[in-house]
Parts: sequence; structure tokens; C-alpha cells
Amino acid sequence: MEVLFSLWTAVIIGIIPLAGWLLWWWNDIWYAVAYAGGTKLPPGHMGLPFFGEMLSFLWYFKIVRQPDEYINIKRRKYGDGVGLYKTHLFGSPSIVVYSPMANKFVLQEPTFSPGWPSSKLMGTTSLLAMEGDAHNRMRSFVVRAVNHPDALHRITLTIQPRLRAALESWVQSGRIVVFNEVKKVTFENTGKYFASFEPGPLLDTLIELFYGMLDGIRAYPINLPGTAYHHALQCRWKAIEIFREELEKRKKFNGTNDKDDLMGELMQLKDEEGKPLRDIEVLDNIAGLIIAGFESISLAITWGFYYLAKYPEVLKKLREEHLPISKKLNGDFITYDDVSSCKYTNKVVEEIIRLANISACIFRIASKDIDYKGYKIPKGWKVISWIRYLHTNPENFDDPMCFNPDRWNEPPKMGTYLVFGGGPRICAGSKLARLQVAVLIHHLVVGYRWELVNPEAEITYLSHPKPADGVEINISKI
Ligand code: HEM
Repeated sequence: MEVLFSLWTAVIIGIIPLAGWLLWWWNDIWYAVAYAGGTKLPPGHMGLPFFGEMLSFLWYFKIVRQPDEYINIKRRKYGDGVGLYKTHLFGSPSIVVYSPMANKFVLQEPTFSPGWPSSKLMGTTSLLAMEGDAHNRMRSFVVRAVNHPDALHRITLTIQPRLRAALESWVQSGRIVVFNEVKKVTFENTGKYFASFEPGPLLDTLIELFYGMLDGIRAYPINLPGTAYHHALQCRWKAIEIFREELEKRKKFNGTNDKDDLMGELMQLKDEEGKPLRDIEVLDNIAGLIIAGFESISLAITWGFYYLAKYPEVLKKLREEHLPISKKLNGDFITYDDVSSCKYTNKVVEEIIRLANISACIFRIASKDIDYKGYKIPKGWKVISWIRYLHTNPENFDDPMCFNPDRWNEPPKMGTYLVFGGGPRICAGSKLARLQVAVLIHHLVVGYRWELVNPEAEITYLSHPKPADGVEINISKI
């Protein structure tokens, strides 16, 4: 009996703490040994075997819903000197970057490859997956097709009939969940200006396929039947086939194309050597742009409804700006030039997008060992540019969680505003995103009143920040 008791005591005071200690430091010891020699790794803790620091990430993002504390705690521990630390997140050893300087370095540095989970899912010739010269060439096509003033002029007019019709139908319902409704109208508009698709069964199928793809992007990339990733690959294949059929139809009947949309634009554009895009490049990039743009625009617009309901003084100033324009238009649609001239609206749009923090972080992979301020970023590690923290840090923005469009009377401090990323991969649809929020604001403020059903709804942060109720509102005509 006494022997058994002594054995248990030994286990409790010896083996259990030792096992706990080993578990806690396992990853640190493992990676310290693997990357010994040369420059040292940044400070940080690699967390538990396999899980790394995922539990801590989920604690702050999902359970206590204080996403900025996740970085604040690290920052208090490791300081602002280098602005990065090592950890283990999303299944990989990672370097998290949080200071403006370190973010700038990561986003400008071409030796960091894009960190999308799989180029198979994004399309190997999609801008999202390409690198180097091929990326530069493709970028010039895509930016001309969606972010250039000519394209924006056209898109401004294309999206308004559906927007107007959607607003009218929401009034008929009286109460709507904004995020659900905005996703529908945004996808209808995307179908229209991307490939001249009209609402109907084809577009309904496409939206389901894109949801399947978006789920796969967030899932672990295991291509086995039953996994979200496998389903996403199948959805991608089906979506590409739908666009391919349309492209073939155009080639057959029109020689090239006579439709004024993104597919037509991509089919006609030529690079500096006079070469057009190959069919697969057109298709991959249409799919890639929908993946990159559809959900982010829907979220930005949803936050617009939310903040304008919460800040009536901002809404009042918007009405003062838009009512004279509406009077002048006399029922016509607002133009890109009108939108560009709305100074206050553009500040509101910027503030919505800053606070929406749709992309909390940007992922890269180190394609070789890189030294930064005396620390090694090892080849193959994830590098996570934590841009959210720049926008919610009081050192960069006064009272950062307050919705204050007037803060945009002054430009932000250098390197502190990276909602659209930075460097050679900066968002290719940034102007299009701003435009769509501004056009919605115009229609909303001149014609409608709305109130939040749950003004104190909690905010959820995964997969993207949004009020938990999806912004439920009562809406009526003014
Ligand atoms: C408010 C809405 C949006 C936000 C916050 C946003 C944010 C971002 C961010 C942070 C990146 C950088 C990713 C990186 O560096 O790897 C990015 C890239 C990109 N975005 Fe957006 N985006 C938005 C809307 C759009 C729209 C509407 C489109 C097009 C329809 C679009 C197309 C793209 C593309 C193609 C890239 C990849 C650029 C490249 O790799 O060269 N985005 N976006």
C-alpha cells in the first residue's frame, strides 16, 4: 500500500509536470533543433504539438471575441523592436508580423510567395496564384478590366438597376437580414458585369458553387472524398465549365465577343507584345476575381448599413451631400464621376472599410531563408501579416474603434493603413470595392430609412468580422 502511495506521489509531483512541460515546449525544442545555427529565430512560443497556438487564437477570436488582445499580449511580451514573433498557427510554423515597418517589409518583399491554401483551387493561371513576371503581366490585364476608370464608369451603371430593384423588394418585406440579401444582389451584379448572366437557375447554381469554393479555401487542403476541400475542387471544375461554355459560345457566334463585360474585356485585352490571354487564363481569372471580391464587397456593404444606422449624424451629412445630386439626376443613375466628387461619402467609405477589417491578415510563404533585423525567417514557414492590428491600434488611429469619417481629413500615418494590402500584390479590386459601397450609400440615403433590430448584437470574428445577426433591419421608404 505504502509503495503504491509513493508511486502515485512520484507520478503527481514528477512525471505529470514533466509531461506538461515537455508538451508545452515540444514545438519550441523541435524547431530550435531543426533551425539551429546561423541567424536566430525571432522571439515567440510555438505552442503545443500539432495544435501550436491555435487554441489561443480561437480563444481570442471565437470565445472571448477580443481579437486585438491576441496580438496585444504578444506585443507586451516581445515589444515593438522588430514587430514580429514566431508561433505555430493553421498547421504551420509561422512568423506573425504586426508593426508597420515589418508589415511593409513582408508585403514588398517578392521572395515571399502568396500563401493561398492551394493554387489548384484558385486556378494556376489566376492572378491570385501567380508570381514574378507572369503575375505582373496578368495583373495588368485584371487591373485594367476591373479597377481602371473606364471599367468603373461602365460598372457603376451596370450595377444600379439590380440595386434599385433589391432595395424596393426589401421595403416590400419590411424586415431583412442585410448580409443575406446583399450577398444575393452582389452576386447577381457580379454575374452581370462579369459575364452578362441574368438572374435565374444558372446564376443560382453558380452562387452555390462559389460558396463551396469559399468553404474549401478555409478548410484544410486534404483532397479526399467527403472533405470540404475535395468538394471545393469539384465546385471549381463545374463553375469553370459554366464559364467555358459561355466563352465558347462567344467565340463561335461573334468571332471574339461583343458583350460589354469582364469576360469580353479579358478576351480582347492584349499585353505589350500584342498577345491576348489564353482561354484558361480568362476563365481562371474570372473565377479568381469572384473568390477575391464577392464576399468582401458584401461584408463591406453590410457594415455600411450597420454603421450608418448607429451614427445618425453621419447619415445626416451623407443625405446633405446626396440629395442635391439625386435632384439633379432626376431619376437617372449616378455616374462614376458623381461618386468620385462626393468628398464626405468617400471618407465614410474609407472608415467603413477600415473598421470592417475584412481581411484580418495576409498570408505569405517564405520561399527561401530571409534575414530581417537580425532574425531568421526560415524557408517554408508561413509569414502572417496581421494587418487588422494596424487599423485597431490607438497609436495609429485615435480612438480606433470609434466610427469617425472625419479622421480621413488627414491622411493616415505611413504604413498604418493596409486594408487592401500593399506592394506588388495590393488588392486589384480596391477601387471597385469602394465604388460599390459608395453607390449603395447613394441609393440608401436618398430613398430609405432603416433601423437595427438588434443594435447590441455581438460581433463574431470568424471567418470574417460581422454582427452575429447578419445585421437584421427594418427598412422602409422615406
Ligand atoms: C472591401 C473589399 C475588399 C478588401 C478588404 C480586399 C482586400 C484585399 C487584400 C488585403 C488583398 C491582398 C492579398 C495579398 O497581398 O495577398 C487583396 C488582393 C486581391 N483582391 Fe481584394 N479586397 C476587396 C475587394 C476586392 C474586389 C471587389 C476584387 C475584384 C473583384 C478584389 C480582387 C483582388 C485580387 C484579384 C487580389 C489579388 C491581387 C494580386 O495578387 O496581385 N478584391 N484584396
